[in-house]
Amino acid sequence: MIYFDNAATTLQKPERVAQAVMEAMGTFGNPGRGVHEPAMAASRAVYDARCALAQLFRGENPARIAFTANATEALNIAIKGILNPGDHVITTAMEHNSVLRPLYELERQGVSLTTLPADRRGRVAYSDFEAAVQSNTRAIVCTHGSNLTGNLLDIGKIGTIAKAHGLSLIVDASQTAGVFPIDVQEMGIDILCFTGHKGLLGPQGTGGLYVREGVNVRPLLTGGSGVQSHSKTHPAQMPTALEAGTLNAHGLAGLNAGVRYLLETGIDIVRQKELDIMWAFYEGVKEIPGITVYGDFSQRERCPIVCLNVRDYDSSQVSDALFSQYGIATRPGAHCAPLMHDALGTGQRGAVRFSFSHYNTMEEINFAVSALREITQEE
Ligand code: ALA
Repeated sequence: MIYFDNAATTLQKPERVAQAVMEAMGTFGNPGRGVHEPAMAASRAVYDARCALAQLFRGENPARIAFTANATEALNIAIKGILNPGDHVITTAMEHNSVLRPLYELERQGVSLTTLPADRRGRVAYSDFEAAVQSNTRAIVCTHGSNLTGNLLDIGKIGTIAKAHGLSLIVDASQTAGVFPIDVQEMGIDILCFTGHKGLLGPQGTGGLYVREGVNVRPLLTGGSGVQSHSKTHPAQMPTALEAGTLNAHGLAGLNAGVRYLLETGIDIVRQKELDIMWAFYEGVKEIPGITVYGDFSQRERCPIVCLNVRDYDSSQVSDALFSQYGIATRPGAHCAPLMHDALGTGQRGAVRFSFSHYNTMEEINFAVSALREITQEE
């Protein structure tokens, strides 16, 4: 089997990730809920994971990293935790439903929303951010990299616009965390939302958010915190403020192992391998008659993603043929990014997404290109 669905979940992880989870399963008590060795082992692992992520994202303090089950939960916390009825918020057509749906929900509650359009190649104009700012604009919420085209937004540039207008910048780093350098301070990011099971090479059920010092986020959940038990209100200090209930410490031990692998190996090395593979695939398929590739490939630095369609076939039909006849795993359909599909003109049939990992090989790429050539020629 050849696995090209890494933008959904990375399948191959460093061996140490599964080992860390297994060890945690046999040794962890509840993190932050006691001082016996099993509880302390869990607390230490969670803290170590915070430190690794603060280092990766250049966060000022590990306590500013709160853990969640995934990026969707982190984005819900961020979006619903800072916006109020009467506020205006800016987002883009590049977004995933994990950004769009919470924003639509808030729109029904009196938040006004401007969604910046994308062109036929899925690109958003930076000048549109500035032009959309109103007197009641409170925040910009945008992705760092599209899960459909793989194109990046220049977050530093958007951070500068946000700062100039006193807006909060919330960034969805689902596709870029662990792949592209993210410096929350330099890029002016107020809240960075990430998931653990993609580029960070951790298990599903892990994710989180970095919240800049001084940014107050209303918690989505309140409840058990392990501290201040007699208070009627949930503790206000980070990270406890955003972490009600027992954390997935077993999973976070695995996430810590994945992030530490990246810190040791260097994300630049990992990304270069992924990009070499992605470009080889793109060069192999772009000229095949009958194949349409989506997105902006004049952008050299991009997520290792290539989305395409074959002739007028439905994307599910092609993805099924790739798996059943060639053992190649891809993702077809709508990819939870409806506005991006509308922009690309793939609203009806979706697109077949190939997304790569540094564990993929050039042999796999050559095999997939040949498979696509055969599928394209089949009557
Ligand atoms: N959001 C994930 C994807 O793009 C699941 O596939």
